[in-house]
Parts: sequence; structure tokens; C-alpha cells
Amino acid sequence: MAIVSPDLPQPVARFADARALAAPGMGKVDALIRARLASEVVLVNQVAEHIVGGGGKRLRPMLVLLAAQAAGYTGAHDVLLAAVVEFIHTATLLHDDVVDESDLRRGRKTANALWGNAASVLVGDFLYSRAFQMMVEANDMRVMGILADTTNRIAEGEVLQLLNVHNPDVNEAAYLRVIERKTAVLFAAATRLGGLLGKLPAVQEQALAHYGLNLGFAFQIADDVLDYVADTGTLGKNIGDDLAEGKVTLPLIYALERADSARASHIRRAIETGGLDALDTILDAIRSSGAVARARAKAQAYGDAAKAALSTLPQSTARTALVALADYALQRDH
Ligand code: IPE
Ligand code: IPE
Ligand code: MG
Ligand code: MG
Repeated sequence: MAIVSPDLPQPVARFADARALAAPGMGKVDALIRARLASEVVLVNQVAEHIVGGGGKRLRPMLVLLAAQAAGYTGAHDVLLAAVVEFIHTATLLHDDVVDESDLRRGRKTANALWGNAASVLVGDFLYSRAFQMMVEANDMRVMGILADTTNRIAEGEVLQLLNVHNPDVNEAAYLRVIERKTAVLFAAATRLGGLLGKLPAVQEQALAHYGLNLGFAFQIADDVLDYVADTGTLGKNIGDDLAEGKVTLPLIYALERADSARASHIRRAIETGGLDALDTILDAIRSSGAVARARAKAQAYGDAAKAALSTLPQSTARTALVALADYALQRDH
């Protein structure tokens, strides 16, 4: 008889287990990242050290390692590709903070706030191109194809988002098109690469990619909720950054759908003008309209789809860790 124990580990505790499982590999990933950041150009080192030294959750490299482990891979290229994926992610953050005019990231002043936009964009380019130098070392055309396509889609997503900014008519479908590109495809690449390294059959590699893609959607929706409800100190980023930039995310879309006409026109104006003058009113509208709960439910649905995809893979500790990671993506506070 199955007994439901009140002492069952909570998702966050199980995330700690997932982290522990990936820890030996992550130590190597960190060392590789440090070693490959180096440049003869002092400013490159300063800016890159600043953003990498800020830490970050290192979720994407963890996904590469755990997916490779779930695929039975025992070689060394998982560490290389994990570092590549984190470099690509870090490059997008440097560029993203310029575009979003953000001044806080990973609890530190952003690179653009400290060194200016030009330095941030150029060091972002350095990290992208360093990632491409490193992925060549895997000596696998499919790996290069996946990462080249992914990086190109991320850039497309950021441009698409730029086109949508200050537009109160952006709907859920348009929002999903953006987050698929800017976030979900990199998660999908991370997990697909793990499967590819383990030479999984095509269906199982596809299942891992499907897991990553859905996790990426869940992760970005959770991020967009946190942008309204988190605590700045815990998040390490400023609350309200999205509204300040006139970026229309799911909590705002849902609030607009349910708002009465007075509130709706307030929200529309705030999107059109940007800035944080109306933040309190908008926070109120987001909360009272149930938009946060609805957005969280949507993220949960993506998280569930991610977990369901894993059933195609053989049972393993690494597969369980990937489940824990999906739970964490939804429950995290930073
Ligand atoms: C931030 O990603 C960008 C988004 C896709 C929301 P993370 O939340 O993974 O950032 P770090 O690496 O942990 O700082
Ligand atoms: C994610 O979007 C950015 C990228 C995937 C490049 P956000 O703009 O929401 O990310 P944060 O909140 O600044 O980390
Ligand atoms: Mg941003
Ligand atoms: Mg955000």
C-alpha cells in the first residue's frame, strides 16, 4: 500500500539533490569557463569577470550535464558544451541589459551601468565568438548546427521583442513567439546536446529537446511573473524592469484582458510610455485580476509538459534530477 508521507522531500530540497548530482561536472564547467574567459585585452577580462563572477544559477550548463548523464554519456564533451551554452547565455545577458537599460543583474551593477553600452555589446560579442571557437573543439557538425541555429533564433527573438515594445496590443500568441526564441530554444539545445552526446535514439533525443523547450517556456513565464512580484534583493534584478521598458509580458497581458475600462486604459498608457510612475496601480491590477495566478498556472502547464516528455527516457537518477529541475523552475524566487 502506498503511504503518502508528510516528509516527502519538497521540490527545492530535491533541486539540491539535482545540484549535488551535477556538482562534480559543474566544478569542471566553472574551471573551464574561467580558463576560457581570458583575453589579452584588459577590458574584456574586466567585463567578462564581472558578469561571470556575479554567479548566476548556472541552470543551462546543469541541464547539459544532467541530460548527458540521463543519456548514459561518460565522455568529457558534456563539460565543454555546458560551458559553451553558459557563454552563449552570458552573452545574451550582456546584450539584453543594454537593450532593457537594466542596471542590476546577479545582485551587482550591470556591465552597461559600469562600463557603458559599447563595452557591454562588444564583450557580449567576444563571449559569443569564444563559444563558437569552443564548440568547434567538439568536432561534430550536428553540435555546431544546433548551436548555430539556436544562437540565430535567440537573436531573432530579441529583435522580435524589440518590435513589440510599447505595443499594448501584443497578445499571448505574440508573447509566446518571443519567449520561444529568446529563452526556450537555448534550454532545448542544452538538453538535446546531452542526448546527442549519449547517442540516444532519435525519439529519445527529441524527447529531451521537448523537455528543454517546455522548461524554457515555464522558466521565462516564471521570470516574467517574478519581475512583478519578487523581492529585488533576492532576485538580484530590479523589480518592474519590464514595465519600465514597455515590455509586454504575460502577467500584463492577462491583467489587460480582465481589467475594467478605466484600469485597462491606465495599463495601456503605461505600456505606451514606459517608466515606473504607474507601477503601483499596475501591480494592483495584476494582483486583483488574478493575472499572477493565471500566469503561474500557464507556467505550470509547460512544466508538466516538460516532465511528461521525460517518460520516454529510461529511468535513472539523472532523469529524476531533471524532474526536480522543472519543479524548481516554477517555484524559484530568483
Ligand atoms: C535570465 O536567466 C534570463 C532569462 C531567460 C529569464 P537566468 O535567470 O538563468 O539568469 P542567471 O544566469 O541565473 O543569472
Ligand atoms: C530574457 O529576458 C533575456 C534573454 C533570454 C536574453 P529578460 O529581459 O526577462 O531577462 P532578465 O529579466 O533581464 O534576466
Ligand atoms: Mg532583461
Ligand atoms: Mg526578466
